Parts: sequence; structure tokens; C-alpha cells
Amino acid sequence: MDPYAKWWGRGWDNLLWLQIVFTWLHVLAGIFWFGGTLFAAFVLGPTVMSLPPQMQAAISRAAATRVPVITETVGAITILLGIVRGTLLGPVQSMGVLFGTPYGITWGIALVLALGVLGWAHFVTFPLGDRMAAALETGDTAVMQRVLALGLIELAGFFGIFTCMILMRFGL
Ligand code: HEM
Repeated sequence: MDPYAKWWGRGWDNLLWLQIVFTWLHVLAGIFWFGGTLFAAFVLGPTVMSLPPQMQAAISRAAATRVPVITETVGAITILLGIVRGTLLGPVQSMGVLFGTPYGITWGIALVLALGVLGWAHFVTFPLGDRMAAALETGDTAVMQRVLALGLIELAGFFGIFTCMILMRFGL
């Protein structure tokens, strides 16, 4: 099914441009959010863990405010743009489409997963990260591993969301 079939050839040129702009912004915010988490889990985290505990603690302290604020802001922007892109600028304009079409269900799953990832980061991963510097200073180097392990749950959510994005691209 082409979810946009009803729009083509009916003077929706402006809508097309808005869709392009919103998709552009949405994908940029999304790759920042998802890519930042991948980078933290597989590059930054292991690199910092290879340093002496005092250095790990200093880096953790320096990152404690900036990382959550930027990550959550970018995540919220991604979700808001995804909502607009799917509803006002997309086909999910009724409960029937949301629950009764493959596209609507996929969009709904992406939304729930993304809110879950944002909530998990806000209430679980980042608060533990806040306490990480203090724990590292007392020699508890395993704390970094715990944060990275909790981050893997976020990554599972991101892979689910990413799959939804590809499915929607094909109208599913
Ligand atoms: C980590 C989070 C996300 C990433 C990395 C991401 C990435 C992307 C990408 C790359 C596309 C373009 C797909 C293509 O045209 O081939 C896209 C499209 C889209 N995204 Fe997301 N997205 C994310 C979260 C969300 C969420 C939470 C929603 C819903 C609330 C959403 C709704 C949409 C919609 C409706 C489209 C247009 C699909 C279409 O009809 O072709 N996205 N996203």
C-alpha cells in the first residue's frame, strides 16, 4: 500500500516540501540520538574504561550534566518530529489507521519504544551515571560496566525503532 496515494496529483506540493523538511530534521536528530548512544557504548565507554580510575572519575564528572541534557533534548526533538511526520504530515490521522494498518501499528510501536528508551535513559541509566564518578573515586570500577550494560537495553530499543523506520519507508 502506498500510504500517500491519496495525496499525489491533488495539489499537495507544499505538503511534500514540508514532509521533506521535517524528514530531514527528524533523521538528523535521530542519527544524533541513536549514533551518540552507539558511539558511547562501543567507542567512548570502552576507551574511558581503559584509563586509570581517577581519570575515569574526572571524565564521568565532566560528562555528568552535558550528556543527559543533550541526549534527552535530541531524543525529545526526534520523537516530536516523528509524531508530526507520521500524523499531520503522514497517514496516521485516525485511530483506524493507527490500529488497523501495518503502517499505523509500526508507527505506534516506534513511538512506544522511543518513549521507553527516553524514559529508561532518564530514570535508570543517567541517574546511575551521576553516581558513577563518586563510585569510581572509591575504586568501584565495575560501576562503568553496569552503566554500559544498562545502555545495551537502550540499544535494543533503538534497533527496534530503526527497524520500524525502514518498514514504514516501504509502507508497512
Ligand atoms: C532513534 C530514533 C529514530 C531514528 C534514528 C529515526 C530515523 C528515521 C529515518 C532514517 C527515517 C527515514 C526512513 C526512510 O525514508 O528510508 C525516518 C522516517 C520516519 N520516522 Fe523516524 N526515527 C526515529 C524515531 C522515530 C519515532 C519515535 C517516530 C514516531 C513517533 C518516527 C516516525 C517516523 C516517520 C513517520 C517517518 C517517515 C516514514 C515514511 O513514511 O517513509 N521516527 N526515521
